[in-house]
Amino acid sequence: MKHEARFKPTDWALILGASSGFGGATAVELARRGMNIIGVHLDRQATMANVERIIKDIQHTGSKAVFYNINAADAIKRGETLDDIKERFEKHPAEHVKVLFHSLAFGTLKPFITKKPEDSVTQAQMEMTIDVMANSIVYWTQGLVFRNLMRKGGRIFGMTSSGGHSVLPNYGAVSAAKASLESHIRQLAMELGPYEITVNTLLAGVTDTPALRKIPGSQAMLDIARAKNPAGRLTTPEDVAKLVALLSEDSAAFVSGNVICVDGGEDIVSYVGQKV
Ligand SMILES: NC(=O)c1ccc[n+]([C@@H]2O[C@H](COP(=O)([O-])OP(=O)(O)OC[C@H]3O[C@@H](n4cnc5c(N)ncnc54)[C@H](O)[C@@H]3O)[C@@H](O)[C@H]2O)c1
Repeated sequence: MKHEARFKPTDWALILGASSGFGGATAVELARRGMNIIGVHLDRQATMANVERIIKDIQHTGSKAVFYNINAADAIKRGETLDDIKERFEKHPAEHVKVLFHSLAFGTLKPFITKKPEDSVTQAQMEMTIDVMANSIVYWTQGLVFRNLMRKGGRIFGMTSSGGHSVLPNYGAVSAAKASLESHIRQLAMELGPYEITVNTLLAGVTDTPALRKIPGSQAMLDIARAKNPAGRLTTPEDVAKLVALLSEDSAAFVSGNVICVDGGEDIVSYVGQKV
């Protein structure tokens, strides 16, 4: 029988981007292992059925689900959400946020240089991408720590990709956001070490999610990733979810400040000739 650690009923995970992809899978996996879930997402009517399915899957495990449909980069909404969480926890002082998982996909996919200047990335788009996909992890972490919602034993995760240290067409602003996120994670790991909170970036391989499908040329990315990947398959949201659960166990208390690949070795392979 496989051994799996169970989390305490007072443990909550705050998942930014909980309605899809890695965030959705991680919400369900942590819930399956006993953690309660606070989900933050940005969805319109067309994708609300998916949100409702994830909430049902969480509740089906016996864990609690509290979801907020807000822009995670909006300072006022962020403050209101964190205050609301604090108020909920006040009735049960042992409750706390054990895991913060940042998995927001909300960036511009415009090139820097185009034939027509109006087709290229603007200053506002660049700043928005880096704010949502990188800087917001710092503000959410501050909000949790300053309200004493995350304590000793806490875990913080951000999501990066190969594109954070290499180039891809249309990925310039997101690449900059990934590089910034990795830097923020290192800084947070240092500053939160004395609090015994660990902070890591997870580097996922190419994964078939709605965010990936928005990248121009995504079908070629999927095909090449399959050809490159030593495991011969794409990364799945569940691969990442299982790693988050593993690193949230007490035995991972000294793992901090890293970029940890969860991609079957895809990032280290640059040759696909054997498959052609
Ligand atoms: N898919 C891949 O191949 C891949 C690989 C490596 C890293 N990543 C990274 O993983 C993260 C998640 O990507 P995904 O593929 O799971 O995407 P996804 O599209 O499946 O999910 C994105 C989630 O973010 C939420 N969201 C987006 N903008 C928001 C905002 N402003 N406020 C609140 N919620 C918001 C959406 O509602 C959704 O829940 C991203 O940072 C992405 O860059 C993706």
